[in-house]
Amino acid sequence: VTDWLRWHAAYDDPGSSLARRLGVVRGRIREALASAPGGATVRVLSPCAGDGRDVLPELARGGHAATAMLVEMDRTRAVGAADRARRLGVDGTLVVVGDAGRTSTFSQALPVDLLLLCGIFANVSEDDIRTTVGAVPGMLRSPGTVIWTRGDSAPDLRPSVRRWFVAAGLEEVGFDGGTGPFGVGVARLVSPLDAAPPLPERLFTFRR
Ligand SMILES: C[S@@+](CC[C@H](N)C(=O)[O-])C[C@H]1O[C@@H](n2cnc3c(N)ncnc32)[C@H](O)[C@@H]1O
Repeated sequence: VTDWLRWHAAYDDPGSSLARRLGVVRGRIREALASAPGGATVRVLSPCAGDGRDVLPELARGGHAATAMLVEMDRTRAVGAADRARRLGVDGTLVVVGDAGRTSTFSQALPVDLLLLCGIFANVSEDDIRTTVGAVPGMLRSPGTVIWTRGDSAPDLRPSVRRWFVAAGLEEVGFDGGTGPFGVGVARLVSPLDAAPPLPERLFTFRR
């Protein structure tokens, strides 16, 4: 899929699997924010953020001081995200137009308490998914949370992705949508790894 305008339009149909996925993702973001240690500013990173319709409304609910970096390659989507942040009054949001596959694009935002990897894993190679999952312990501040999505498009990699997160040292918090067209996984870095692997320069490249 390269027509991201059309892809995002599916959100407008409340019965679409994308709209249902959004409800699940937002619920999981809400849970992650609620379980973040009180007192500290919650740091959030959303690579390939689209227009930020998942995380920004949840940050707008308040409850935590937060800073968020949203990285989006498509300028129109990025402007949409920045407008949404402004409209919702989510201070502390930085929208970066750039390549989220390169770790240097967002390295100054790391480590984060909440990492969103939504809408990425169906668009990159299996090797890139493994590289990205393996990098997550080096991107999170313990007990940070990663929320990821992957649809059922063949080959259905959802069971593998769940295993790869555990193998990378994270604990699975939950997984929704196993038999449906989407999957939303949540995992947490309960204790920091003794030596998190250094971040690779590149996590993924979107397939055309
Ligand atoms: C499937 S959409 C997901 C958007 C959002 N995360 C969501 O779940 O609603 C993928 C998004 O990634 C953006 N994108 C593609 N390649 C990118 C890259 N290398 N860096 C940053 N954004 C990218 C696209 O423009 C598109 O908005």
